[in-house]
Amino acid sequence: MIVWSIANQKGGVGKTTTTVTLAGLISERKKRVLLVDTDPHASLSTYLNFDSEQLPASLFDLFQLQTVNKETVQPLIVKTQFENMDLIPAHMSLATLDRVMGNRGGMGLVLKKALDALADDYDYVLIDCPPILGVMMVNALAASHRVLIPVQTEFLAMKGLERMMRTLQIMQKSRSADFNLTIIPTMYDKRTRASLETLQELKIRYSDQVWASAVPIDTKFRDASLKHMPASFYAKNCRGVFAYKTLLTYLERLEQDEQA
Ligand SMILES: Nc1ncnc2c1ncn2[C@@H]1O[C@H](COP(=O)(O)OP(=O)(O)OP(=O)(O)O)[C@@H](O)[C@H]1O
Ligand SMILES: [Mg+2]
Repeated sequence: MIVWSIANQKGGVGKTTTTVTLAGLISERKKRVLLVDTDPHASLSTYLNFDSEQLPASLFDLFQLQTVNKETVQPLIVKTQFENMDLIPAHMSLATLDRVMGNRGGMGLVLKKALDALADDYDYVLIDCPPILGVMMVNALAASHRVLIPVQTEFLAMKGLERMMRTLQIMQKSRSADFNLTIIPTMYDKRTRASLETLQELKIRYSDQVWASAVPIDTKFRDASLKHMPASFYAKNCRGVFAYKTLLTYLERLEQDEQA
């Protein structure tokens, strides 16, 4: 089982879109994927047409469990309408976790423990993070083999990325987190100077960590989200989906090299 977190402290950069689009493509490749929505706003759950207020359980309940094992974690999972794709939905109450549990020891490894218990059930786990550094992001990073960082190819993007990279370095230094990084340039518009220059700068400054391509601006992503479908099911031949296909192949190769 391979675990990826999709994270960036900057909001609106394409985290949820990246999560759901990659999941769609993974499921089409006949691999089993579990999505974990760690954002109290529950954008990923809403995208997949779940109203977390109406569901009997959510990720919040994981943090209330006395014992974390397969029997206790499985009831938190819902099946999506897509084959091979399950979800642990988010709930508004996740926003209270930092206040309630921030100071309790051992809380940073709860999600990792839960995913370890599900290791036989899935090929991939994709964790969609909120744009805040808190208990949820700490849990996500500690559980991950790789952190995917979508970066909007826009002016000021580099500032936000520097902040995120500092956070990740601090996490990597702590013993609980050991992950690789891949920066994913998103919302690339080749007609604008901002996009061209930001992409160029990313490649220079983060040459070892950046995916050397980019996800283009594509209105199909928004349309797909309104239809509650991963873009590859909604508009399988659009250029945005093509970019994520290339990205997935690239990431799979990285994981294979890593294991070799
Ligand atoms: N490549 C793209 N081209 C055009 N629109 C995009 C692209 N990627 C994402 N979007 C749109 O941009 C908006 C923000 O994307 P998304 O919700 O994925 O970002 P996010 O980083 O998860 O945001 P948040 O920090 O609020 O969780 C959405 O309306 C989405 O449909
Ligand atoms: Mg999001």
